[in-house]
Amino acid sequence: MSVDKNETDEMGDLNSLDIISEATIRPMVKNDLMQVLEIETNSFPTPWSLALFQREMELDFSYIFVLDLDGEIIGYMNYWLSVGEVHIMSIAVKESYRRVGIGSYILQHSLDEAMLNGGIYAYLEVRVRNSAGLALYRQNGFELVGIRRGYYTDTKEDALIMAKELVPVCQ
Ligand SMILES: CC(C)(COP(=O)(O)OP(=O)(O)OC[C@H]1O[C@@H](n2cnc3c(N)ncnc32)[C@H](O)[C@@H]1OP(=O)(O)O)[C@@H](O)C(=O)NCCC(=O)NCCS
Repeated sequence: MSVDKNETDEMGDLNSLDIISEATIRPMVKNDLMQVLEIETNSFPTPWSLALFQREMELDFSYIFVLDLDGEIIGYMNYWLSVGEVHIMSIAVKESYRRVGIGSYILQHSLDEAMLNGGIYAYLEVRVRNSAGLALYRQNGFELVGIRRGYYTDTKEDALIMAKELVPVCQ
């Protein structure tokens, strides 16, 4: 792997193209669980437990993709797909790899995969104060379609519902 993360972190020029060209995006396997759980714990106020991830892996309609950089998991996304509807459950990027396009890459790839499996419409809930999440989704074509008041039981925060029609690049 040609990217020296410590060096690039200090220099502040971590390049997503370098990372993406060296990394593999693939379905999550059991061996990834601990790394995914660590990212999850560092990313959300009420992180999912190991048991919840294990349950997701057993559901026919649940998909989890990870971005693997030579054995280091640097991000993941989980969605449910049912009768054309893609419900994005979670996306997170390892802290030291944020703000260089990795989240967008995982999101786009996962939605492309969902389209190949019949997805035509994607939606999600995001905390109203999650500025990074909101920016990520807006940047990737999601629009605000509604609000769920007090949706998050931990903080009583509202959820914004964002949605996007999935259109293949080449038709
Ligand atoms: C949300 C998250 C996945 C974004 O990942 P990322 O790899 O940093 O995202 P990207 O680099 O692809 O950024 C996509 C866009 O969002 C914007 N963005 C990302 N983080 C931002 C932040 N903290 N503040 C403002 N804008 C932000 C970027 O400006 C970028 O647009 P750009 O073209 O102007 O650069 C990451 O911050 C994260 O893991 N957060 C914790 C988990 C979470 O909140 N997930 C979303 C809710 S499920």
